[in-house]
Amino acid sequence: MKRLQLPSGAGIPVLGQGTWNMGEDPAARQAEVAALRLGMELGMTLIDTAEMYGEGGAEEVVGEAIAGRRDEVFLVSKVYPHHADRRGVQEACERSLRRLGTERIDLYLLHWRGNVPLAETLDAFARLREQGKVGDFGVSNFDIDDMQEAAALPGGELIATDQVLYNLVQRGVEWELLPWCRERHIPLMAYSPLESNPLEQAGLLGKPELAAVARRHGATPAQVALAWLLRQDGVVVIPKAVRPQHVRENRAALELAQALQPEDLAGLDAGFPAPRRRRPLAMR
Ligand SMILES: NC(=O)c1ccc[n+]([C@@H]2O[C@H](COP(=O)([O-])OP(=O)(O)OC[C@H]3O[C@@H](n4cnc5c(N)ncnc54)[C@H](OP(=O)(O)O)[C@@H]3O)[C@@H](O)[C@H]2O)c1
Repeated sequence: MKRLQLPSGAGIPVLGQGTWNMGEDPAARQAEVAALRLGMELGMTLIDTAEMYGEGGAEEVVGEAIAGRRDEVFLVSKVYPHHADRRGVQEACERSLRRLGTERIDLYLLHWRGNVPLAETLDAFARLREQGKVGDFGVSNFDIDDMQEAAALPGGELIATDQVLYNLVQRGVEWELLPWCRERHIPLMAYSPLESNPLEQAGLLGKPELAAVARRHGATPAQVALAWLLRQDGVVVIPKAVRPQHVRENRAALELAQALQPEDLAGLDAGFPAPRRRRPLAMR
């Protein structure tokens, strides 16, 4: 699996697995654990989770999936903004470590900006790093002005990523945030890369422009959506999938990314235009 380099020098795989909505239903747990293990076997060893998902349930699912294989995995988790003060970060991280069954989270993120001063959260993150409880730290759902403010604070130069909503129908980050991150060699993590809502038939995956490219390559629309993101410089992609067929398809999007032709990319740009002006960061 190709890796990007974080500002600390650590490598981060470009394609991983999300876990939002996992750990909520005990009846689904076995399938969720199996999906994450399958993904790991296929090389998708980055696993993204958060204390919020299933109120700790998703971290427990991840803990079960990675048991005995911790060294293969690049583990990402997130702290709630209302736990982002000095003591709250420490305690939240220790709870996450227990649920994950590990002594270290590779990349620990502030889930979104709340009321705690950023300087305090960064200081708490730096302490966790010194203690070896986290490898790197970063943020999520930060727009360009939040990033600029955070980067200027003590420890801000160590911010390793911004995890944001980015996919073919949500391209706003290309206007300013993504170029800003690229200049500083800060990988951007693209969440909800499939913009897939099971209740919404006409979501991204139902769009004809995607189907046209998929047909040409004998691929699925989801694979095209992921392949397009995987071609963007400095971007890490974290689709969530429980169905084994989805997990396999998502892994194969890596090869499709290499196979996309200029006419495919032009078709996608026509169907899903790049931003023409600044817009506030979209989020879930
Ligand atoms: N930082 C943040 O604020 C934030 C916000 C949202 C998400 N995230 C992270 O990003 C991850 C991904 O985002 P997401 O879960 O919102 O959405 P997503 O990955 O874009 O979409 C997930 C949905 O797509 C389906 N799917 C997966 N692979 C597919 C394929 N090949 N073909 C068709 N459908 C497919 C899944 O179905 P099955 O599960 O049934 O296979 C699931 O219903 C999350 O799980 C989470 O880790 C972070």
